[in-house]
Amino acid sequence: MNNTEKLKIKMEFKSLTSDTKIPVLGLGTWSMGGGRVRDTTYDEENIYAIKTAIELGMTHIDTAEMYGDGHAEELVGEVIKDFDREALFITTKVSPENLRYDDVIASAKRSLKRLKTEYIDLYLIHIPNPQIPLQETMKALNFLHKEGLIRFIGVSNFSVKQIKEAQENSQNKIVANQIEYSLLVRNKGNEYINNMESEVIPYCQENDIMVIAYRPLAKGKLTRPGFKILDKLAKKYNKTQAQIAINWLISKKKIITIPKSTRIEHLKENIGALGWRLTSEDMRMLDKEFK
Ligand SMILES: NC(=O)c1ccc[n+]([C@@H]2O[C@H](COP(=O)([O-])OP(=O)(O)OC[C@H]3O[C@@H](n4cnc5c(N)ncnc54)[C@H](OP(=O)(O)O)[C@@H]3O)[C@@H](O)[C@H]2O)c1
Repeated sequence: MNNTEKLKIKMEFKSLTSDTKIPVLGLGTWSMGGGRVRDTTYDEENIYAIKTAIELGMTHIDTAEMYGDGHAEELVGEVIKDFDREALFITTKVSPENLRYDDVIASAKRSLKRLKTEYIDLYLIHIPNPQIPLQETMKALNFLHKEGLIRFIGVSNFSVKQIKEAQENSQNKIVANQIEYSLLVRNKGNEYINNMESEVIPYCQENDIMVIAYRPLAKGKLTRPGFKILDKLAKKYNKTQAQIAINWLISKKKIITIPKSTRIEHLKENIGALGWRLTSEDMRMLDKEFK
């Protein structure tokens, strides 16, 4: 019996486009294979975690050329070569310093090689770079799409203005914006993204752009007891704080998420955020009281 059968939790999906669905819960890979620098120390644990996550149904894997200076992609590649590629959804990102036309194409080809795959499902501009015209970057992304090397084009850490500019310069739809968003981080994000709840998310919801919430557990802060409402709801639903925090995200329209974990017990716990829903009253309470 595999883990999925044991857990008896089925993955839930949302529509990315009219004919493509994406799991509401994927796996983040930041810090697997190093931070900004390649580190092979924990390769075995990381490979086992990625493989287990896929077996548990987290078939959306989020990575980036930046993570571990490419090593996170190598770890993902090592795992996905043994799976049915069509059953997986692989997202990776081009770094802000590589947004010139030729650099985007070279980056994508390097990512494909490290990922040991023929195509990337979703290719994101990791962080906007005002020094490089978006028009040039979008032209390269559209070329990669035409060549069949990427299935979908998306952005990350983009404001409404930047999404509009990207879309105006793209023949293909911008299908996703990956942004920081969690119970603890609502409007005041980080150096790259702000106004998520007041501007960016409503715009994405209205324009059929999937919001991929990163740092959904606020890097682990939301997994520990100490926030009164979270503790109260955890008790009420017989769930953990992490499960409540993830359920709050995926209960919202056009939002999916990608918590990172290398611990098997945490992966199983996170998938336990699926298959049930917070009531709309409790959603409203979380919305209000966490502000
Ligand atoms: N586009 C961007 O600019 C951007 C920026 C940041 C992140 N991201 C993406 O988003 C992903 C998620 O963000 P993140 O990794 O920064 O933060 P996160 O997912 O909010 O938190 C990850 C931390 O939480 C711990 N954790 C996970 N599940 C847990 C559980 N059930 N109980 C206790 N601890 C738990 C993990 O430790 P263990 O491994 O020990 O479980 C890890 O330390 C990244 O991995 C990356 O793929 C994108």
